[in-house]
Amino acid sequence: MTFMDRGSKPAVLVTGGAGYIGAHTAKALHEQGFLPVVFDSLSSGFREAVRWGPFVHGDIRDAGALADAIDAHNVKAVIHFAGLIEVGRSVVKPDLFWEHNVGGTVTLLSTMREKGVNRLVFSSSAAVYGQGGRAALETIPEAAPKAPASPYGDTKLACEWMIEAQCRAYGLTAVALRYFNAAGADPSGLIGEAHEPETHLIPLAIAAALGDGKPLTVFGSDFDTPDGTCLRDYIHVNDLAAAHVEALKAELAPGAYEAVNVGTGVGASVLEVVEAVGRAVGRPVPHSVGARRAGDPPSLVADPARAGALLNWRPVCSSLDQIVSDALRWERSPQYGAGVRGGRCGTVQTTHA
Ligand code: UFG
Repeated sequence: MTFMDRGSKPAVLVTGGAGYIGAHTAKALHEQGFLPVVFDSLSSGFREAVRWGPFVHGDIRDAGALADAIDAHNVKAVIHFAGLIEVGRSVVKPDLFWEHNVGGTVTLLSTMREKGVNRLVFSSSAAVYGQGGRAALETIPEAAPKAPASPYGDTKLACEWMIEAQCRAYGLTAVALRYFNAAGADPSGLIGEAHEPETHLIPLAIAAALGDGKPLTVFGSDFDTPDGTCLRDYIHVNDLAAAHVEALKAELAPGAYEAVNVGTGVGASVLEVVEAVGRAVGRPVPHSVGARRAGDPPSLVADPARAGALLNWRPVCSSLDQIVSDALRWERSPQYGAGVRGGRCGTVQTTHA
């Protein structure tokens, strides 16, 4: 029996649910018959992205606010996205990342235990692997050595260890999903990627091609890869969202802990992405080659076999052309214009107060 059997529309607390992957997961939960209760401080998320369930304004370091949200909505499970994500910033502010990511997860876990909520899906990252002595083009299984190249990756790995220990000690059941490169947007154009500042390749390449941003700098062309630029495993955010729902529904024994890669198993180079964006926009991406960016491993490509076996999950919309065309639709949408170009106070109507 899973927690799903206990109610017709089980409430799932989605910490960080006003952010990019959180909002897409909230939509997927709604479509699968769950009630997503978004808990978000709005320090980097967008209120306009909360459309598929109630919103609670709160910080995961605030145990009282978490407990109140769990009680008020009869929460049965938690999907935990909230945290700081900028790899570069983690290098200069490591203490902040430990406080928010690790400290926040400590508070969340103890509040869940106090309230008897014992099912968790945790937002982890391929950043736990680093390059780790791997040959350049090898895919990465979950058991690969862990050698995070940043304090951000350290905090994700520390959270995984802590969650696993609490599964053993207290009977929590948890799945940590290690995302590769989340990209794309929901085809509705209602939600998509909006970071401030934007550092990710696909939105920057689209902005450059549309003439909305600076020409793109390709960070290094002298890596040991087929065309000399970095290889990444781009996964459509809706495929990623579906993996969260499957992780929540998986029939796991009490106390089980699983860490699962979420990627396609196929790498794309920076130049392949630049070409795909040029095809989608209908004009080439203005770009030049610059120096390598500190901390970029040459290649990060998942071995996704475990996600297939354990979660019965496979990517269905993660071709590079699909990812780029959905990202482009979002960057051209009025919601993107209101929420991003117009500042943080968008004008999009929401369905929940
Ligand atoms: N890149 C450029 N120019 C840019 C931006 C990026 O050439 O202006 C390159 C990067 O060097 C990298 C690739 O494009 O090779 C992808 O870069 P992104 O910044 O889009 O994504 P990352 O691979 O750096 O980071 C992603 C997630 C992180 C996560 C990491 C795990 O965004 O949160 O994967 O490895 F930690």
